[in-house]
Amino acid sequence: MLPCIAWLQPVLALLYSTMLTRGHTCPSRCLCPDHHTVDCSGRGLIHLPGPLPLNIRRLLLANNWIFWIPSDFLLLYSDLVYLDLRNNSLSQLEPGTLSTPFSRLVFLDLGCNNLTEIPSGAFGESRSLIKLRLGDNPYLSTVAHDAFLGLTSLRELGLERNGLSELDVRVLEPLPSLRTLRLEGNPWECSCRFAKLFAWLTENRDKLPTGEG
Ligand SMILES: *[C@@H]1O[C@H](CO)[C@@H](O)[C@H](O)[C@H]1NC(C)=O
Ligand SMILES: *[C@@H]1O[C@H](CO)[C@@H](O)[C@H](O)[C@H]1NC(C)=O
Repeated sequence: MLPCIAWLQPVLALLYSTMLTRGHTCPSRCLCPDHHTVDCSGRGLIHLPGPLPLNIRRLLLANNWIFWIPSDFLLLYSDLVYLDLRNNSLSQLEPGTLSTPFSRLVFLDLGCNNLTEIPSGAFGESRSLIKLRLGDNPYLSTVAHDAFLGLTSLRELGLERNGLSELDVRVLEPLPSLRTLRLEGNPWECSCRFAKLFAWLTENRDKLPTGEG
């Protein structure tokens, strides 16, 4: 081996590791306990932090003031499995934002925000989604009848303490994997729709937390 190459090798190794580390830069004010996790909980953020590692899997953003998610967010971070946006200021979900064909999202917490509506196909093609938390959105009064269409793996759905006075039973029917459903604390009105929902809940009482059936 040429002496010059022997000398170059450690330099190259150092350069390479520096480049790798730079690829995992942690957004300022956030913690990065490992290469796949960024934790920016309770940092007073009003925007999503950036730039994030492209291979990020867990993003923890609870207890901030984030009011908007760009519509290409999941396209960019397609390895994301766990997204916690609990207790932020989101008031709407732009169609398509959380419904990319290649999404690997398994856990999504949008509880304790200011959502008013879950539109048609809001989570369209998130076939890997298992837990979806939408509770504690006090103005959330509208859930489109096909809002959860395609969520074939969804096991846990939280719609507790929202502003729902009615819920079309077709919202729940296309969820073959559903095991746990939370609906308590909504201002239900006894209407024809509620009667259908009530009939469905009676049939599926095993899916409600004990004491809620
Ligand atoms: C929500 O986040 C704000 C801002 O960080 C915090 O002050 C508040 O205690 C949080 N609320 C809950 C219920 O965690
Ligand atoms: C939440 O939404 C309601 C109804 O759209 C609005 O009146 C209220 O100001 C919003 N609150 C925050 C903190 O954005």
